[in-house]
Amino acid sequence: MPARPFVSGIGGVLLVVVAIALVFTVLVLHEMNSLEPAAVETTGRIEVGERIPLPSPRTVSETSVENALAQRRSVRVYSDASLSLLDVAQLLWAAQGITAPGGGRTAPSAGALYPLELYVAIGAVDELDTGVYRYWPEKHELEKVKAGDARAALAAAALNQDCVEDAAIDLVLAGVYERTTERYGDRGIQYVHLEAGHAAQNVYLQAEALELGTVVIGAFDESEVARVLGLEEQSTPLYIMPVGRRG
Ligand SMILES: Cc1cc2nc3c(=O)[nH]c(=O)nc-3n(C[C@H](O)[C@H](O)[C@H](O)COP(=O)(O)O)c2cc1C
Repeated sequence: MPARPFVSGIGGVLLVVVAIALVFTVLVLHEMNSLEPAAVETTGRIEVGERIPLPSPRTVSETSVENALAQRRSVRVYSDASLSLLDVAQLLWAAQGITAPGGGRTAPSAGALYPLELYVAIGAVDELDTGVYRYWPEKHELEKVKAGDARAALAAAALNQDCVEDAAIDLVLAGVYERTTERYGDRGIQYVHLEAGHAAQNVYLQAEALELGTVVIGAFDESEVARVLGLEEQSTPLYIMPVGRRG
């Protein structure tokens, strides 16, 4: 007597349909939770005043917050390796990125007044030429504000701390006090400083997840850093954060 087929007729068709649906669901879920971020924009030479869109940040990784906290250390020695544009975008987003439709950001802000401004001196980044750039959180864009490699001048302004010159990039957190003191009076000055701390810690943890090294630099000549970056008059530099691949 011939063996009965395992499935036949309508049962077989149903099985195939269910299998296809399963594979499709797995593929969609994988795509949604992918550790691979959105495609990186390629950029050529950028003019002063020009803005470029940044690649979307990822919101999943293999590093837990607990792990990043346990591993975080100030790192002052870097290799010569360049960073990718995606690394830069991810670090900027971690510091001040928009995370809610109403404009909420990765770091808290007193009265949601957002007095921090974020600059980056680009040295060695794939697909991005040297210069000073400003991050615009609302559109997740970078605007070139000054041409040329500013790292050596920044290091000189930071009491010749080598890590500032050696890093692939230097993030600079600046604050516009008036945005906060207008509402909170002198206490607003403290609030701006506290906010810089929140943003800086975000960068530390993000650097950890990207296997990069960073350190907060508070020892620098304020007016010299402002001059090197070409900051607007009301903007005061608060922290420099060199970032590079660990040496
Ligand atoms: C307000 C502040 C200013 C700092 N300024 C500098 C600095 O100018 N240069 C530097 O190398 N490290 C600076 N640091 C980093 C500290 O030296 C570092 O956090 C400390 O040695 C503890 O090491 P850890 O961060 O690895 O835990 C500063 C840290 C803070 C909080």
